[in-house]
Amino acid sequence: MNVPFYGHVRQYNNIKAEIDANIKKVIESGEYVHGPMNKQFEKEFAEFSGTKYAIPCGNGTDALWLTLMALGIGEGDEVITNANTFFATAEAIWIAGATVVMIDCDPKTKCIDPAKIEAAISRKTKCIMPVHLYGQCADMPAIKKIADKYKLWVIEDNAQAIDAAGDTFKIGELSDAVATSFIIQKNLGCFGDGGAIVTNNEQVNRVTKLLRAHGSPARNVHSFGFNSRLDDIQAGILSAKLKHIHEWNNNRIKLAERYTKGLKGAKAFDLPYQKPGYRHVWHLYVIEVKDPSKRDTFLKWLNTNGVDAKTHYSIAIHQQAGYPWGKGARTVGSLAHAEHNAATCISLPMFPELTEAEVDYTIGKVMEWDKANA
Ligand SMILES: Cc1ncc(COP(=O)(O)O)c(C=O)c1O
Repeated sequence: MNVPFYGHVRQYNNIKAEIDANIKKVIESGEYVHGPMNKQFEKEFAEFSGTKYAIPCGNGTDALWLTLMALGIGEGDEVITNANTFFATAEAIWIAGATVVMIDCDPKTKCIDPAKIEAAISRKTKCIMPVHLYGQCADMPAIKKIADKYKLWVIEDNAQAIDAAGDTFKIGELSDAVATSFIIQKNLGCFGDGGAIVTNNEQVNRVTKLLRAHGSPARNVHSFGFNSRLDDIQAGILSAKLKHIHEWNNNRIKLAERYTKGLKGAKAFDLPYQKPGYRHVWHLYVIEVKDPSKRDTFLKWLNTNGVDAKTHYSIAIHQQAGYPWGKGARTVGSLAHAEHNAATCISLPMFPELTEAEVDYTIGKVMEWDKANA
């Protein structure tokens, strides 16, 4: 059996009629950039997110730096995040001109460890940027408490956890803005690049809407800005998919439960941790190989045995060659947990259209390796 890592085409085939109808609607409207479909999706996405505003834009990275700029965060300012995230979290902070301050993650959830934040705060700190890594929310109540104490902005990097929730909180409730990515492989993915900001903050809404479109509030009127727009065809695809996202995430949850049940008792690796009461939407199902020296051979073994496993992310940001490329960056304290995660992580296939037979085949292969290597 061959188990793929992604199921984009399966997903398209399941709701082909809905996607095709929206694409046709856009093409026949003759308005392909910031046209009626974009406005429709903007409204639907704000409603879905429970926020006053949604601001679709070109991609998730832009969503982050547009928000930073809209809040006036840039040169001379510091933004705190964790070192074990997709590169774009730090990249967006650099694009805005600010300094990236990296701290360690919680050893269980892999999200930013709130207990490490205060030690990283300086006179220059302006913002905390938690990442809801792998589909599970960071500890937002603890982060918000620190942000309030030091009067810091909070921007959630929600590229990986759309429709997730904490035990007592929703995404967007305890922050100033939330940035998401709609790149193909995300839980809510379009057929290329896309992103959005959701917020209740009027300034973020107004300024990011200007910045994403050449600083233009009206035809021929401009101020400093960029070009970061979500195409209407992508908005149409997302509008069709948004109606299914909750049910698709429920499928991911069921598949994750199947993995966890099947892999229980393994000795050579640790299973992902889910915080009680949290809705983890399993963007990725990540196991950690106890012996880091065996990770790469295990991954290769899975790949040659038909399981398209991958790593997210095997090089922490501060360990990338050439870091920090002349940009402002500092690390605070030990990053041992982030580094351990980078050295040991393996993501098993996870998407809503994955079959139980494919999950069982993957479990079988992983356990076969475990037996031989524990
Ligand atoms: C945690 C995180 N932040 C930011 C991004 C950036 O999103 P994009 O690729 O749409 O720019 C991604 C995904 O790619 C991500 O996983």
